Amino acid sequence: MKDRLVIFDTTMRDGEQSPGASMTRDEKIRIGKALERLKVDVIEAGFPAASPGDFESVQAVARVIKDSTVCGLARALDNDIDRAGEALKGAARSRIHTFIATSPIHMQMKLNMTPEQVIEHAVRAVKRARQFTDDVEFSPEDAGRSDEDFLCRVLEAVINAGATTLNIPDTVGYSIPQQFGATIANLMARIPNADKAIFSVHCHNDLGLAVANSLSAVMNGARQVECTINGLGERAGNASLEEVVMAVKTRHDVFNCQTRIDTREILTCSKLVSTITGFPVQPNKAIVGANAFAHEAGIHQDGVLKSRETYEIMRAEDVGWSANRMVLGKHSGRNAFKSRMTQLGFEFASEAELNDAFARFKQLADKKHEIFDEDLQAIISEVDLASEEEQIKLIALKVCSETGEIPTATVTLQWHNQEVIDSSTGGGAVDASLKAIEKIVQTEATLALYSVNNITNGTDAQGEVTVRLEKAGRIVNGLGADTDIVIASAKAYINAVNKLQSPDQRRHPQKGDV
Ligand code: KIV
Ligand code: ZN
Repeated sequence: MKDRLVIFDTTMRDGEQSPGASMTRDEKIRIGKALERLKVDVIEAGFPAASPGDFESVQAVARVIKDSTVCGLARALDNDIDRAGEALKGAARSRIHTFIATSPIHMQMKLNMTPEQVIEHAVRAVKRARQFTDDVEFSPEDAGRSDEDFLCRVLEAVINAGATTLNIPDTVGYSIPQQFGATIANLMARIPNADKAIFSVHCHNDLGLAVANSLSAVMNGARQVECTINGLGERAGNASLEEVVMAVKTRHDVFNCQTRIDTREILTCSKLVSTITGFPVQPNKAIVGANAFAHEAGIHQDGVLKSRETYEIMRAEDVGWSANRMVLGKHSGRNAFKSRMTQLGFEFASEAELNDAFARFKQLADKKHEIFDEDLQAIISEVDLASEEEQIKLIALKVCSETGEIPTATVTLQWHNQEVIDSSTGGGAVDASLKAIEKIVQTEATLALYSVNNITNGTDAQGEVTVRLEKAGRIVNGLGADTDIVIASAKAYINAVNKLQSPDQRRHPQKGDV
């Protein structure tokens, strides 16, 4: 019997701390449901004390997730812990994750506390968290640069106070695999009550070693890994969930543990997180990159055709790259559409929502011969976006683009219950369209990112556009999909403007403040 390796996903907390990756409450619910289908054990949904928006998001995720534990982060402060406990009240299973820094530099420069005071705060925080839930995780922040003797003292004290998971973070990504693995083995051997808690790791990728450090820790006894979809996270990111999970699964000969992850859901999660955050996945990214299973060299292709094991160590379908996906088309009926959506894990909240999605599907099928799973996922994104509060809607867009002529665009928007039309010229059709919209909405925001990805192959594929706008320190991502990328761009821009005009949910304070 192998041990269980607990997979703790922090895409919606640490991942969200990457500049530009902020997520709305509804986006977090979608990601939360996808992580539940992936069978993640623990979903860290946010940092409730950071802002009212964060609190509401954690609360909303806690209410909808039934099959995974939902976790909220809290500094070792009474108010943070109470807010986390409050936000998690509706959860089927909840965890509070509290932390305080233990490295000399953090204790002196950031906390201005003595080591004894740090231990006191840690113990008090864990005891307080236990009043809300039996599942309490403690992290000595910057453990990678902390003194091992001191770590032993803090960790022994928090286990006595009721911590059930001890998470060892390499906060600044400073560790090296062999040394990090040895630290885990030493802590587990030296702390007298170590057997009363699960050891976890949380590695950052500043030296590109987050996955290697996490796996080294697992080989030395850690039984929880904190990770994120696509390796999203502060600075260079966190350990990538898909890489950790597939390494443990593929090399089951060397790991004495297994996860309960349904690996076939990995790709869907990766695409969802990439679409929502606007962080594209590089083509050569392990597991989820477009080229991860592509064999270009003739000699490789020949080998794979004769026997796939010659060059493939994993099966593409095992991580969600399905070779024979069921394709829908314009003759597919409502039942076929609904049943494929159910297989993809989407449940419609009402008959009206199903009808709306089906109408969008029919419109798309008129323009595009074959509808793939990725197209269906884009339809769901559109239905979700339409359910968000929208002050501005696209009614019509007319573009004139001709060689040797200056492109012009005329846009009609529903703008606070009125129809408004304006036109603009631009460097190209997209530029002219976005300038025409901006003439009406006048956000004066800076365009921080504009990216287009084709959802499937072929020139009739839908283009999925992400627009990131920045204004007065606030960053929002807008999304739009259409077979016409100019229209997709206009939809994405309008989506971003709607978000910019919604109440400011900026996080305050940040994790590093204490
Ligand atoms: O990197 C870090 O130290 C963290 C902790 C809150 C676990 O994110
Ligand atoms: Zn972190």
